[in-house]
Amino acid sequence: MSEKLNLPIRARRNRKSEAVRGLVRETVLHPSDLIYPLFLHDAPQNDPIASMPGCHRWSLEGLVNEVGAAWNAGVRAVVFFPKIGETFKTPRGEECFNPDGLIPRAIRAVKSAFPGITVITDVALDPYNSDGHDGVVERSSSGELKILNDETVALLCRQALCHAEAGADIVSPSDMMDGRVGQIRSALDAAAYEDISILSYTAKYASAYYGPFRGALDSAPKDGDKKTYQMDPANRREALREAELDVTEGADILMVKPAGPYLDIIRTLRDAFDLPIAAYQVSGEYLMIKSAAKDGWIDEEKVAMESLLGIKRAGADMILTYFAKDIAARLGERN
Ligand code: PBG
Repeated sequence: MSEKLNLPIRARRNRKSEAVRGLVRETVLHPSDLIYPLFLHDAPQNDPIASMPGCHRWSLEGLVNEVGAAWNAGVRAVVFFPKIGETFKTPRGEECFNPDGLIPRAIRAVKSAFPGITVITDVALDPYNSDGHDGVVERSSSGELKILNDETVALLCRQALCHAEAGADIVSPSDMMDGRVGQIRSALDAAAYEDISILSYTAKYASAYYGPFRGALDSAPKDGDKKTYQMDPANRREALREAELDVTEGADILMVKPAGPYLDIIRTLRDAFDLPIAAYQVSGEYLMIKSAAKDGWIDEEKVAMESLLGIKRAGADMILTYFAKDIAARLGERN
């Protein structure tokens, strides 16, 4: 028999039962923390997305049904990503501000079916741009690519206005052009849309984790990469600089993307700024969990839950995740 240790302090006392663990729990996920990203296309059927098991490119009707299912599970915010037909893509992506385009129609359909849901829209040119970049591409005679900042920002303002007119609650620039938050804020205010919020992709990294998403939308850059506008994964201080700019330009919420591999960046922005912080658990993070679970190596629900809890514990107030509907439903059952 071993002797009793003289241990007045025993950390395990606070873990002795589920009830005690509940009392001392520091971070709790709620369905209202989650934002559900949804893909849509201009077609009558719903197509499963091969690179993102469990996700679909929804028809307008399918989208409304899926938003309804998410609403019933407790999700209160959605964000839309369109797959645009090749024939609509142009170098300047003008389809992005067509008032009868796919996104404005989706906003109207979803808001009329579920007026209480928050509709967020992605502001960037890549789904509409024939070069597959988030901005307008200029090619030098030697074939080098340049993504034109100021010209792109003017187009993004028209896109944001178009979404606001259709009834979006929040516009979310994901393009990483300089100055776009301030310009979009002024454009919205000048058109009396001062109540439309801006959720800025503040620290969006040039990440390989976006691969499955680009497969879903057929939106991969045709040429070159996104490293002249998205951030270098090696940099942390630069995220503070981007955040300062977004704060002064009038962003309402700051986002870090991807989420799981960038928990330190979430924490850094949480500690340095008072604004709410969003984090995007991107397609590659989702696919890794889905794939490992499909082969039976990990428990999908438990790992998804733990990954989201980790993101929230790091300092995110809200999380964009393809697990939103399923996890919200599960959280609801527990209460
Ligand atoms: C593009 C955009 C991307 C994602 C959201 N908006 C891809 C990219 O920047 O190439 C990725 C989301 C994901 O991987 O889940 N504006």
